Order: sequence, then C-alpha cells, then structure tokens
Amino acid sequence: MVYIEAKNISFGYPKKNKIIENISLSILKNEITAITGHNGGGKTTLGKLLAGIFKPLGGDVLIFGDNTRELTLGQIGEKIGYLFQNPDRQIFTSTVKEELLFVNKLKGKSMDKAHRDMEELLDFFDLYSKKEEVTFNLSYGEKQRLALAAILINRPEFLILDEPTTGLDKLRKNKLSKYLTKLMEKGTGMIIISHDLEFVKSHASRIIEIARGEIIDDIR
Ligand SMILES: Nc1ncnc2c1ncn2[C@@H]1O[C@H](COP(=O)(O)OP(=O)(O)OP(=O)(O)O)[C@@H](O)[C@H]1O
Ligand SMILES: [Mg+2]
Repeated sequence: MVYIEAKNISFGYPKKNKIIENISLSILKNEITAITGHNGGGKTTLGKLLAGIFKPLGGDVLIFGDNTRELTLGQIGEKIGYLFQNPDRQIFTSTVKEELLFVNKLKGKSMDKAHRDMEELLDFFDLYSKKEEVTFNLSYGEKQRLALAAILINRPEFLILDEPTTGLDKLRKNKLSKYLTKLMEKGTGMIIISHDLEFVKSHASRIIEIARGEIIDDIR
C-alpha cells in the first residue's frame, strides 16, 4: 500500500533554491524505507516535505491520498510521527514527566491513561530514573529518547525519524532497534533518515540515497 507519494516535487530555501529537484517517490507502509546520503544532500528537507511540514514549491505530496497543501499540521500529526534531527526542537515542557503527560492531557485523556502511557515509555526508553528531571539537563541521547517517546504517545501509523541513532550508545541502539521492529510488526510504517549504514541495513528493506537534492540510488 502506497502511504506517501511525492509527484515531481521541488523545493528551495530563500537564497538557496534548488535543494530538492524534481523528485518522484512512492513510500509503502508495510516496509521500512531508509534515506541516506552525504551531509547536506537534502535528506532532512526531503523528510519534511514527505511529512507535510514543508510544502513543495513545485509538484505535490500526498499522504494516504490527501495533498499536504490541504492538511494542517494537526491533521498531519495524527497520522505521522516526526522525530526532528535536533531533539531540542521537539521538547516542549520543562520536565521529563510533563513531556510524556502533556499530549494526553491536551487530548483530554484520563489521568490514569496518561500515567500508564508515561510509565510504559519511561520504562522502555530507560528514562525512569529521569522522571522528575528538568529536560534542559538531559544528555543529547536522553533528549532524543524522550522526544521519540513523546511522539509514540499519539500512536501514529507512520513514523519519519531523522537521524534517530545520533547520541545513542550500542546498547540503546539495540533497544531502539527492538522497539522499531515491534512497531513495524504492529503495522507502523517508517522512514529512517540516517548516516548510520549499519543501523539502516539491519532494518530497512529499501534504501534510497540522496545527493545534491536528487535520488541517486533506490534499491530493495
Ligand atoms: N533553513 C535553511 N535555510 C537555508 N538553507 C538550508 C536550510 N536548511 C538546510 N539548508 C541547506 O539545504 C541543503 C540540504 O540540507 P538538509 O538539511 O536537507 O541536508 P541533510 O542531507 O539532511 O544534511 P545532514 O546530513 O547534515 O543532516 C544544505 O545545503 C543546507 O545547507
Ligand atoms: Mg539532516
């Protein structure tokens, strides 16, 4: 099943046009797609276009049939969980505990349900001892795990993870692997944007390589 479809998309930043040039791409939901490539090739920009965070200057992106131009960020967030390359961009509250409670609170879920989700994710991501910690004081890897945990509270059907292994040691990388595999088995689709070829190769069934805003390789 095609989940995200890009049709001849192009994009540029002010003063830096042509970052993405005429890319067409169909992303399936029932496999893990990796996007790799050298620094500055346009991976993050493409990821944001596919997630509907950026709208293409030319062409269209459809998420499960809906044009991203017509979707609000709120509507997109219900479908796609997006992990930013820099976790500081993603953490909204002052403590670990609050970060894992606020989405459910916003949605009007019961305190009981909010606490259950929080405990489950704290446990899984080895953040239990940091429960009361101020988010500002967390290490980079801890912030990344917290950001990912917070995304999963929405139970999105598709994830786009931008460099998810940055700042994770081998043990935590293995744990992340297991969790991502479990999510995939439950039917969550996924794009992993990563330099980490070893990690990518052990998960993805499709690897797309980007350079200078173009697809230079797409292998299954
Ligand atoms: N906000 C911005 N304004 C102007 N140029 C930008 C902006 N963000 C990215 N760029 C430029 O767009 C190009 C692609 O950047 P992008 O972050 O998409 O690449 P990337 O492949 O994700 O890189 P990395 O491997 O370092 O994460 C680069 O030349 C970058 O300098
Ligand atoms: Mg990037």
